[in-house]
Formats: sequence, structure tokens, C-alpha cells
Amino acid sequence: MGLSEIAKGIAPSPTLKLNERALLLKQRGDPVIHLGIGEPKGKTPIDAVLAASASLGSGNIKYTPADGIPELKQAIVRYMEDNYQKAVDAKQVMVSSGAKAALYAILRTILNPQEEVIITVPYWVSYPEMVKLAFGVPIIVRPEDGRFEPKVSDIEQAVSKYTKAVIVNSPNNPSGAVYSEGFISDIVDFCERRGLYLIMDDIYHKIVFDDIVPPNPYKFAREQGENSRLIVINGISKLYGMTGFRIGWAVASKKIIEVATNCQMQTISCPSALLQVAAVGALLGMQSYVDALRRNLQNNRDVVVRELETISDVKVFRPQGTFYCVADFRAYSFDSTALSEFLLDKALVVTVPGKEFGLEGYLRLSFAGSTKEVIDGVQRIRWALDPSAPRDIYIGDRRVLRDWK
Ligand SMILES: Cc1ncc(COP(=O)(O)O)c(C=O)c1O
Repeated sequence: MGLSEIAKGIAPSPTLKLNERALLLKQRGDPVIHLGIGEPKGKTPIDAVLAASASLGSGNIKYTPADGIPELKQAIVRYMEDNYQKAVDAKQVMVSSGAKAALYAILRTILNPQEEVIITVPYWVSYPEMVKLAFGVPIIVRPEDGRFEPKVSDIEQAVSKYTKAVIVNSPNNPSGAVYSEGFISDIVDFCERRGLYLIMDDIYHKIVFDDIVPPNPYKFAREQGENSRLIVINGISKLYGMTGFRIGWAVASKKIIEVATNCQMQTISCPSALLQVAAVGALLGMQSYVDALRRNLQNNRDVVVRELETISDVKVFRPQGTFYCVADFRAYSFDSTALSEFLLDKALVVTVPGKEFGLEGYLRLSFAGSTKEVIDGVQRIRWALDPSAPRDIYIGDRRVLRDWK
């Protein structure tokens, strides 16, 4: 019996697959350093744990409204006021099982079959696949080599009569770039003029360094009411390190949210009742966790950039946010998948091939782990690649000699 051509064409998530592989190697006792990781290492904030424990203890965990419990929707309304200075109605909020699920529900809501969504390089690995799953067509726009901010003129050239939406992700996974106010104001204006939906994936918008404040798209929107085509995606995964809780949300016009909620109602019914309560705990609890996270990550960002700059001919882009850093390894290989495999084989370091983000020849390194892991991981990479590095190194308690050219 045949399977769906669309489903068969969907690539697995390379980052989730790498996590599985790193776990297997670790379980085997190999001293793997995981620089592919997509989550902060800290424990769940205590306010989230307490809220979820109390809810679990009540033994009363049932279906919730499809768009989320009122307490969480109210907490998100407050989050919008605090972080975007934007007053939204609770009817403009839909809670989902992670930002990923929120984004997918939105794509299902806005796309007819074969309509196009513009995605700029470098992009989060899941966007093209999600657009395809929603019967749409991803259109990839590539800025000139070495640029990490898209240009509205390039996006404009990719627009056709089938274009329905543009996805913007800033701070960006994988580059860590925070797009400028000029770009955000221009893209908001452009999408309004052309009648396109603008999906802002803001999942990292509070993980920023050097006191940078990411531009607020609402500030530039002329259309603030029901005709607004601005859709903002967010969640607790990255900000509170609560990746396993699977809670995210979309904020948009009431009409978009109403239709998206119907889609969600007929697929997952609702996000988990227990985990929504945990999200309320995180959002309304002490926020000192977030400041500490930002400080640690900024320190690790400085470390990863400094260490990468010691590898001859590697070009590093200094991240302004997130916990990822991309570096150009084309001096060593144009095939990032082969290079990433080589580094895992020889140096037991997990990296993500840039190819997965539309950046062939680059590697993405996560600095969400400990500072020691970041230093040791990059030193292992240098040892494996750079002939000017010392020839031997300790991997775990084994002394290993570089015996390849
Ligand atoms: C850009 C971006 N958007 C969305 C997500 C998914 O977040 P969630 O865990 O809430 O589904 C990720 C996770 O890696 C991401 O990097």
C-alpha cells in the first residue's frame, strides 16, 4: 500500500536525530561533547515545578479549552504588554503543544494547497518541512554570501501571485543574528502593502546579549486591528529551558486564532492541562532565572567566539542572541555533513551541518552547555582540523594522536 508522497518527502529533524545519536554514544560510555544541543542546560524554574506539582496532586487533570486555559492566556496577554507594549485580547491568543505546533497550526490556517511561504537563509530546519506538510511550497531566499540579515528587496523578488506569507526568525537560529530595526520596519511595511502574512518566530527574543533590544514589529504596524496580518509565535522552551514541557503559543487577529483553534480542536483537542499550569508558573513566577540564563549564555558566547577564532581560516559570526553560533569552515570542507561526521568520528564532538539551515560549508555550534564543554569541544575541533594545533589531545582519559592530514 502506498504512503503519502508529501509525508514521504518530509526530512527528519537533523537536530533531534543528532540528540538521539549523542545519547546513544554517551550511554556507551564515549566522552562525547554535544555542541548540537538546542536547549539551555538548567533545571526547570521552581515556580513551574511547584505549580505543576500542585495541579498533579489535585488529581483533577482534564481536557482544557482547545486554545488554552484562561490563566495561561491571561499570562500571555500580560507577557505581550510587558515585552511588546501591545495590548491584546485573550481571543487573540492560542496556546499549543510547543511553538512548533503553534506555527504548524498557523500554516494550516493560512495556506491553501500550493501557496508559497518565503523563508530566508539561514532558516530553522523545520520551516520548509512544515510548510510542505501544510500543503504549501517553501520559497528559499538567499542573501549574498556572508550576510546574516535578509534584504527586503531580495524577498520582493521572490514574491509571486501564490505568495501568502513570509517567516522571519530573529534572534535567528542558527546565526544568532538580531535583525535591525530597519529590516523589521521595512518587512512589516512590505507585508502590509502586499497583503502578505508576516510570521515572526520570536522564540529567542529575550535571549539577547550586550543589552540589545530586538525591534518590536508592532511598533511599525499601521494595521493594529482585526485586519492585522502579523502573527507572533513564542513559547517557554528556550526562555525557561522548559523544552520537555511542550508549551508555545501564537498571537494574531481574532479571526486567525479562531480558525487555528478549530484546526487544533480537531487534531490534538488541547495542549496538556498539566503542562499549561507549569507554563503559568514559569510566566508569573520569579524572572531572575531569565537574567541568570542570559548572563551565562553571554559568557559562553564570548568563549565560543574566542575559541573558534583560534582555528586558522575559520570565519565566525558573533551571535547577538540565542545560544547558537555559526562559523564558516569552507577552508576545511565544502561538505558540512561530511565535516560534521568527521568531527564526531575523530573528536567525539557533535555539531550540526550548516547545510540543514541552507548554509553549506558552515557548522552550527551550540553554546547552551557548560563553559568547559564549549572550550573542550572547540579545542577538539581545532585539534582535528588545524595543522597548527598540538598533535595530541586527551579525549576523556585517552591520549589521541592526530594521524591524518
Ligand atoms: C526558531 C525556532 N522556532 C521554534 C522552535 C520550537 O520551539 P518549541 O520547543 O516550543 O516547539 C525552535 C526550537 O528549536 C526554534 O529554534
